[in-house]
Amino acid sequence: MSVNVFESLVRLPPDALFDLKRRYTADKRDNKVDLGIGAYRDDNGKPWVLPCVAAAEKMIHEDPDFNHEYLGIAGLNSLTTAAAKVLLGSDSEALTEERVVSVQTLSGTGALHTAARLILAARPDAVVYVPDPTWGNHFPIFNTQGLKTETYPYWDKSTKSLNMKGLLATILQSPEGSVFLLHTCAHNPTGMDPTRAEWEQIIQALADRGHMVLFDTAYQGFASGDLDNDAFSLRFGVSKLASKAPVLVCQSFAKNVGMYGERVGVFHVVMPRADTPKTTASSKATLTSQLNRITRSECSNPPAYGAKIVSEILNTPELTEQWKSDMVTMSTRIKKMRHMLRDKLLALRTPGNWDHIVEQCGMFSYTGLSKEMVEKLEKEHAVYMVSSGRASIAGINENNIDHVASAIHSVVSTFCASKL
Ligand code: LMR
Repeated sequence: MSVNVFESLVRLPPDALFDLKRRYTADKRDNKVDLGIGAYRDDNGKPWVLPCVAAAEKMIHEDPDFNHEYLGIAGLNSLTTAAAKVLLGSDSEALTEERVVSVQTLSGTGALHTAARLILAARPDAVVYVPDPTWGNHFPIFNTQGLKTETYPYWDKSTKSLNMKGLLATILQSPEGSVFLLHTCAHNPTGMDPTRAEWEQIIQALADRGHMVLFDTAYQGFASGDLDNDAFSLRFGVSKLASKAPVLVCQSFAKNVGMYGERVGVFHVVMPRADTPKTTASSKATLTSQLNRITRSECSNPPAYGAKIVSEILNTPELTEQWKSDMVTMSTRIKKMRHMLRDKLLALRTPGNWDHIVEQCGMFSYTGLSKEMVEKLEKEHAVYMVSSGRASIAGINENNIDHVASAIHSVVSTFCASKL
């Protein structure tokens, strides 16, 4: 008789986002539109291989020394070093003073996972505060490690804007030394970022309370088209916070380089300034040894191919310039689609105010559509978006925008009429 040792396990529901992708792929309707997973599409609704990536790949393959050998445990040094400069700016004090430890990870998710393991090793009772709402995967990443998560208010549903009052109150009320996760830019799912003045207030409040900050940086350059502009919160945060406590940064190259499946990411720790450079060096060595243990036990060493492409882009001036222009191409097209969608809904006289679509930035719009409306959109109009009402604006183009706008108009009008 066989014994099912896994009998006690319960079946879990499918991942909401990837199940949406599956339903979209299986849909046979010609007019289907995918506004689900956050991945850039060009004006023909197709995935886009960035010209900087195509050029970098060519250069890599033409290199006579190209091979598929293992990387070191901490990953490709030319990638992690250049990635830190992209994040912090090449004039960063933390870099000049050699206070940054960087290790390659499996994209941004891997960086968050590494952060979770590190926090757990140092402070098993730490509570990680994430915004409400946040990227759905934040909870399982921390919780499966045994770390407790709480939320801080972020989105005011009634005004479709940032809930600064609630956010600041939670920073003040939470136990000193809590971990606060901030989305560096292009907040996922709301697309609503604090203004610079609001960031300054948030960071000051975090510094005053002695909290530790983890910046989740998945969209640098993707929100505004400018790497420096999109790094404002992070750089200001590092300048204010890293004198007292380490600042953690998770960096993904999935979106801004358009290499979703290659899983290129970096986890950085900016260490506080110590009394002597020798103490800093010793703390860095300890931290590196811990991070290497985490990586070695989980994937031995990170994947090389995508890392080589991104490294080539960041270390070849012409390719870096091409990359910057590619990010402008993506962010400009998305902004254009935001304006077109808002204008079409206004022209159709769709009930409600739609200005938030153009006030938000990055890949997503938190449309304000209810779960029931989203279900109807999928069922009756083949327009797919996340049940929270999050729409990936990158999925809209000039060929499908009329269908998207009239589908939203029809659904919203029906629900409004039923309430009369
Ligand atoms: C998204 O939020 O759609 C992306 O970040 C994809 C993912 O892995 O969830």
